[in-house]
Amino acid sequence: MSLSQNSPARLNTLFAKRTQKMKASEIRELLKLLDQPDIISFAGGIPDPAYFPRVAFEQAMLKATSEQAAGIALQYSTSEGYTPLRDWIVDYMGRHGVTCTRDNILITAGSQQALDYLGKLFLDPNDTALVAWPTYMGALGAFNAYEPRYDRFDPQANRPIEDIEADAEAAGGRVKFVYLSSDFANPTGVTLTEDQRRTVLKRAEALGCAVIEDAAYQELRYTGAEVKPMLALEIEEKGDIEECRTIYLGSFSKTLAPGLRVGWAVAAKPVIQQMVLTKQAADLQTATINQIAVNEVARGVFDAHVATLREVYGARLNAMLAALDRHMPEGVEWTRPEGGMFVWVTLPKGMGGAELLVRALEAKVAFVPGGAFYADGSHTNTLRLNFSMSPAAKIEEGIARLGDVIRAGM
Ligand SMILES: Cc1ncc(COP(=O)(O)O)c(C=O)c1O
Repeated sequence: MSLSQNSPARLNTLFAKRTQKMKASEIRELLKLLDQPDIISFAGGIPDPAYFPRVAFEQAMLKATSEQAAGIALQYSTSEGYTPLRDWIVDYMGRHGVTCTRDNILITAGSQQALDYLGKLFLDPNDTALVAWPTYMGALGAFNAYEPRYDRFDPQANRPIEDIEADAEAAGGRVKFVYLSSDFANPTGVTLTEDQRRTVLKRAEALGCAVIEDAAYQELRYTGAEVKPMLALEIEEKGDIEECRTIYLGSFSKTLAPGLRVGWAVAAKPVIQQMVLTKQAADLQTATINQIAVNEVARGVFDAHVATLREVYGARLNAMLAALDRHMPEGVEWTRPEGGMFVWVTLPKGMGGAELLVRALEAKVAFVPGGAFYADGSHTNTLRLNFSMSPAAKIEEGIARLGDVIRAGM
């Protein structure tokens, strides 16, 4: 049956060109397949719900909806965000070496929203976004709508700045920002050293572009010493956040709970003010009651709760690294992260992560093939393993199954 010229199903022919760059997330499609209880899944990238601070949120929500408080919690609020929460964040950032005021902070609906806003703020079509190879695919998804070109950014590679600029110009735009995760990156788990962070700042300075520092996993450190955020290092160098080109993105998703959708951006005031205008146009504000609850819970249990997560997830990371040592055949390599939620595996050349997944699912074990984390879809012989969702015994069993599947494919 053919659709009539005016059928609503034909509306897709009217979609703006930018929608052609919006692809269904491979991870989300995958997660739909993983509801079967006998599959051991290392595919997700989410916190273990058994460790949500549920009681603290229950109490905070009850308090927020009490007769005295509901008039504020259920009401519209400012676009910048709930002031007491911004003040808690000022303290928190101060503890990590970032001296700022509440006017340097915007509360967003998760850091994902900040990524979208920054794409909207900075990217004209064909402008260049410098990203890690591989990078967080949700960032690529957020930026794609603004039709950028991607170029590889590797703080260790000494590619001349002039070449990066010339390539950006040849593509019809300018280099607008570098987007990087400083700690325990999704998907690799890798952390930038202080030297690398300083190199990023130096190269961004030379390029005259912004730095977007994604700190979603910063608190989830299990071993090793904290490295200061790039924004803190830049403030040290320049003396004032108002002189800085780094835009720091934080999130309560990995520490408290992602369902509340509360994150934040920290930057020089003109950037924050422009983001506030973007927010006013997009969704007016982040949900008032969620910000009030997060403020209450953060002030009550943040440090103790993060300490619990470090213990639980740290043990799971150790279990995964030990299982990989035991079960992976020769020729397979993986990262040894100091925190976060992921280990990144490189298969022997010629072995594809996506094809391996088909066979792994038959063996009842799942992961995310790595190609989707590359802006150019390259390096398909990689995969991402999540360890935050599985207790040690499951990790051992799942990695043993995966080792067998890989060995069989060699
Ligand atoms: C690196 C990174 N940045 C940002 C996000 C988005 O987190 P949220 O919007 O929940 O703060 C995620 C989520 O997985 C992530 O892995």
